[in-house]
Amino acid sequence: MQYLSNSPEETIALGEAFGRKYLHAGVVVTVEGELGAGKTHFVKGIAGALGIDERELRSPTFALANEIDCEFQGKPFRLYHLDCYRFERPEELLELGVEDYLFPKNAATIIEWPERIAELIPARAKKVALQFRSEFEREITITVE
Ligand SMILES: Nc1ncnc2c1ncn2[C@@H]1O[C@H](COP(=O)(O)OP(=O)(O)O)[C@@H](O)[C@H]1O
Ligand SMILES: [Mg+2]
Repeated sequence: MQYLSNSPEETIALGEAFGRKYLHAGVVVTVEGELGAGKTHFVKGIAGALGIDERELRSPTFALANEIDCEFQGKPFRLYHLDCYRFERPEELLELGVEDYLFPKNAATIIEWPERIAELIPARAKKVALQFRSEFEREITITVE
């Protein structure tokens, strides 16, 4: 599916709609795109679908992984938000604890810069790609099974 976003707010809204439709326990979402393409805005929208305030969703570029506790359908749930930008080798994810992140239980995982760990991304992952069209326009492509 392809969408055109004309503003940061629209990208957040598309992320929220995506989250409502596709997020549940065990889901892994990859979000690709150059720096500034709007990945983090889209992720804020997904998190918003779980009732997570966007201020809790600082870019994890330095932390590598954020774990945000929330609720899903009235039960405790957790969102893992990984940013693999700084990874030089996929093995670095293995050192962080691959099991929780790639097979989330009572949780879902969002991965920015999945290219860095391409061989570890499960085939079932839902894929989001953002591309620049102009200063405020972004093409957003969603690939799900
Ligand atoms: N349609 C749009 N969607 C998302 N961000 C946009 C859009 N138009 C302009 N922007 C700007 O692009 C930047 C995107 O930042 P961010 O979401 O952090 O990108 P990334 O995580 O991909 O590096 C922000 O400065 C935002 O204001
Ligand atoms: Mg980002």
